[in-house]
Amino acid sequence: MPHTNIPHPEEACAARRLEGRKAFTQQIRVPLAVYIHWPFCRSKCPYCDFNSHVRDRIDEGRWTRALLADLERQAELALDHEVVSIFFGGGTPSLMPPDTVAALIARVKALWPSAADLEVTLEANPNSAEAGRFAGFAAAGVNRLSLGVQALDPAALQFLGRRHDRQEAIAAIGLARATFPRTSFDLIYARPGQSIAAWEAELGEALTLAGSHLSLYQLTIEPGTAFGNRAERGETLAADEDTAGALYEVTQQRLAAVGMPAYEISNHARPGAECRHNLAYWRYEDYLGIGPGAHGRVTRDGGKLATQQRRAPEAWLAAIEETGSAIEEVTPIARDTAVEEMLMMGLRLTEGVARSRLEALAGRSAENLFGPALARLVEGGFLRLDDRRLAATAAGRQRLNAVLAALIA
Ligand SMILES: C[S@@+](CC[C@H](N)C(=O)[O-])C[C@H]1O[C@@H](n2cnc3c(N)ncnc32)[C@H](O)[C@@H]1O
Ligand code: SF4
Repeated sequence: MPHTNIPHPEEACAARRLEGRKAFTQQIRVPLAVYIHWPFCRSKCPYCDFNSHVRDRIDEGRWTRALLADLERQAELALDHEVVSIFFGGGTPSLMPPDTVAALIARVKALWPSAADLEVTLEANPNSAEAGRFAGFAAAGVNRLSLGVQALDPAALQFLGRRHDRQEAIAAIGLARATFPRTSFDLIYARPGQSIAAWEAELGEALTLAGSHLSLYQLTIEPGTAFGNRAERGETLAADEDTAGALYEVTQQRLAAVGMPAYEISNHARPGAECRHNLAYWRYEDYLGIGPGAHGRVTRDGGKLATQQRRAPEAWLAAIEETGSAIEEVTPIARDTAVEEMLMMGLRLTEGVARSRLEALAGRSAENLFGPALARLVEGGFLRLDDRRLAATAAGRQRLNAVLAALIA
């Protein structure tokens, strides 16, 4: 793999860079999503394999300076862009000081022009201590809060190792809705022993509490997590495949019936309330990944560049402080790989992939690219293809890995 270091920014170049940025403002700009990762949590949930860590002490000043430095450095990769979204993910970004969030938002706005409807999302845990910071986050410029509720059933919250209880979750949803123009919350279903009736009741309650967006994830048992280790020893920690499938069906039907259809496998929204940030990933638009373990994709010479950062928080911080960058690699993505990535992301979406973008990236027609597998998957009811889009059907989205394997084989 080619390995390219990003040039170190020097003070003398700052004015020139700024001039360059201003010159671009007159041109049509490429949409850019900026992801900022906060890698710390109060405790580690047993199902979670995100890059999240528990630490006794966090030097917030150092972390703020390092994230700002990372942002400055990576801006070099995406000069001709307009920011459409900023997303604080984790870990638990609601543990960030609101001043840090404000400083990062302000720096993004100074580095790029931003869309009139700029979306600024922060992921929050519903613990009351963190809810106390909601007003500070709103004042910092966050306009969308995504809450990790996970369950409304007390026993399920305990099973999932959450630190909040049902009442805190309900209170946090109410406070979030009163504080932010847009909100969403996450639930995890297909838990062991969960009946369809129990999930329907929980979902029904969730709908009375929800705004215009919900993320509903099937519990997955990830290797290396506490649940993964217990499952290896023979414990049943998630619903079996048939039950999970039935729970998925119920979820799709119920949410469609109330006007919040799935726009992605696990994400539901009223039309217009889709998460702009996640759409950027699924539509294979450009994004920068700021912070430990974050990755990015930016358009370069008609193809894409991939960036990958150091994952361990302390190693990341040290690299930024010593060299100004913790990016391990900036790699041009081969055309075939880029096509696969576009499909893997785009077929998750109900809207699918734009045929024109797919064919421009691949350099040939969809029929030529996929051969007879395409017609077979269309006839089998797993894909839809017309002049404008290639999309997975509901049945195709439910078994997307198999569909992709058949298509790309
Ligand atoms: C970065 S995580 C969580 C953000 C926040 N720290 C929290 O816990 O609320 C984003 C979401 O992924 C989902 N998630 C994480 N691990 C999962 C798993 N193993 N199975 C299903 N959903 C999972 C959870 O719903 C979670 O809210
Ligand atoms: S689910 Fe959220 S709170 Fe729990 S360990 Fe993962 S990132 Fe942290």
